[in-house]
Amino acid sequence: MSSGRLLDDTALAASAVVANNTMNRERGLAGPNSYAKELGFDPYEFLAARQGAQAWLDLCCGSGKALIYAAGRIAAERPEAAVTMVGIDLVDHFMGGPRPPGLELIAASVADWSPRRSFDLITCVHGLHYVGDKLRVLERAASWLVPDGLLVADFDAESVRDVRGRSSARRVASAVRRAGWEYDTRRKRVSCLGPCTLNFEAAYLGADDAAGPNYTGQPAVASYYEWSRQ
Ligand SMILES: C[S@@+](CC[C@H](N)C(=O)[O-])C[C@H]1O[C@@H](n2cnc3c(N)ncnc32)[C@H](O)[C@@H]1O
Repeated sequence: MSSGRLLDDTALAASAVVANNTMNRERGLAGPNSYAKELGFDPYEFLAARQGAQAWLDLCCGSGKALIYAAGRIAAERPEAAVTMVGIDLVDHFMGGPRPPGLELIAASVADWSPRRSFDLITCVHGLHYVGDKLRVLERAASWLVPDGLLVADFDAESVRDVRGRSSARRVASAVRRAGWEYDTRRKRVSCLGPCTLNFEAAYLGADDAAGPNYTGQPAVASYYEWSRQ
């Protein structure tokens, strides 16, 4: 069972767990506190190794520091490259200063924002921990990839619960793998290559912001679902 009533997206956005000012929104591109460290690869290098125009979407981008640095580096090193970088975050805590060309930082919820284009790389670094309908975000985001694009997201399957509050981790991990995605149980990271169809067949019920700390040690949000097949 949840530790209280389940929250809808409006209540969740106002929750102290989600609006928490002390969470790490400042990861850079490379180095000790970085996307490269968390993801296991440097997004800049990933894009630079590909041919033609490139687009990177970062969901729950925090301050946007990694995107800003990557866009600035591309503008300096490869001014001829046509690169689009889009960051989405619920709160407008974006870093100030000049914005390199091709970069857009948007204050919106990943729950209802939709892009008008597809992307070569989609990342979500420690953002899904605070989202209500995590499964829907993954389903939607995977459909925004170009054919050989890559989606990588930190995702704790243990944070997905059924109506009775039991962990749905095994069910989620097998649905992900059946659809051709990878779920790294140890790193708690989900990834897929190319646009993948994913349908968890689960109805979202709401979020519990009192679930306590997850594997990161930070308070996180548990997400409740009713599964079509029990
Ligand atoms: C731990 S921070 C990580 C930020 C960034 N990815 C980084 O690693 O520096 C999690 C971010 O998720 C954002 N977030 C939480 N719920 C969100 C939602 N529904 N839509 C968009 N962003 C959300 C928070 O505002 C916060 O900036």
